Amino acid sequence: MGWRFFVAKNPINNIPIERGIRMEQRLKEILEIAESELGGITDMKALEEMRVRFTGKKGMLTEVLRGMGQLSPEERPAMGKLVNEVRSEIEGLMTSVREKLEKEALSARLVKEKLDVTIPGKRPALGRKHPLTQAIEEMEEIFIGLGYDIAEGPEIETVYNNFDALNTEENHPSRDEQDTFYITDNTLLRTQTSPVQIRVMKSSEPPIKIICPGRVYRADTVDATHSPVFHQIEGLVIDKGVTMGDLIGTLKLFAKNLFGEETDIRLRPHHFPFTEPSAEVDVSCWVCGGKGCRVCGGEGWIEILGAGMVHPNVMKACGIDPEIYSGFAFGMGVERAAMGRHNISDLRLLFENDLRFLRQF
Ligand code: PHE
Repeated sequence: MGWRFFVAKNPINNIPIERGIRMEQRLKEILEIAESELGGITDMKALEEMRVRFTGKKGMLTEVLRGMGQLSPEERPAMGKLVNEVRSEIEGLMTSVREKLEKEALSARLVKEKLDVTIPGKRPALGRKHPLTQAIEEMEEIFIGLGYDIAEGPEIETVYNNFDALNTEENHPSRDEQDTFYITDNTLLRTQTSPVQIRVMKSSEPPIKIICPGRVYRADTVDATHSPVFHQIEGLVIDKGVTMGDLIGTLKLFAKNLFGEETDIRLRPHHFPFTEPSAEVDVSCWVCGGKGCRVCGGEGWIEILGAGMVHPNVMKACGIDPEIYSGFAFGMGVERAAMGRHNISDLRLLFENDLRFLRQF
């Protein structure tokens, strides 16, 4: 800054003016103080305090400006200019100190907030698959491994697909309103997933090899072993020359996969309208292996599914010639299987969704 110029002179005799010189010295002084104080500023608060003291409304520079009144009108412009120069000099110095402080604060923050990627993370609470979903998927896997496709159908079905096409007589007890939820005379909530098999047989040509998992409905009162909503997995194979031996072999393989290699099965004659012959299928108890225990009620065997050779009437209803083709079908309750596998004594636990229960699976 050119101090020389600001030595105010009396324009008449060209002699420096006393008051002007004093103000000028004061300005020099203020600048020097500012420079030396700035060297010791280490935080924003002190910087702000300084700004107020030097360039603020009631600060030192304002004080100097106030004294301008004592100068002659000729002296004032030069002094005013000098004050402004000192002001911008000080402001410039303060700005560079502010920038320095901001930079330091930023790098201090970056150091503080640095991520240590080696610290073990917080494990997010993960959900898990419901035991019924797990059971369904496990069974699906087994059949997918045997070359089956998965087929699904609507839960609201026609009475025809759920009963008539499945060779269920007009007066069969399962048709009763006490057992089945009817929506209209012709539609109902499916009582089994067998109508999915009807849909597939009607819409495709053999060979057919499917399993049909899904939700089914029956007008049962809720208790430890009954629920009006439950799940089934049914299977259907239609081809030339399919025999009862194929059915037994398939179910044996399935049981060994699901319950363990040592598992055996047995068939007991039964009646289903849609299969002939029909059987109920037991597996050797997965707890005692057949000796008899609490889980199998001392029997050594546990019933898990119904099965049989597809009734010729069912095939005919779906446009498949029973003289050319034959097939087997089987069906089982998923809840039942899951309860058995996990030793669950009350079916309601599977629907209440109490996390303390679900977390065990
Ligand atoms: N649909 C039968 C039921 O719900 C089970 C079954 C399917 C039986 C296929 C035999 C063949 O009880």
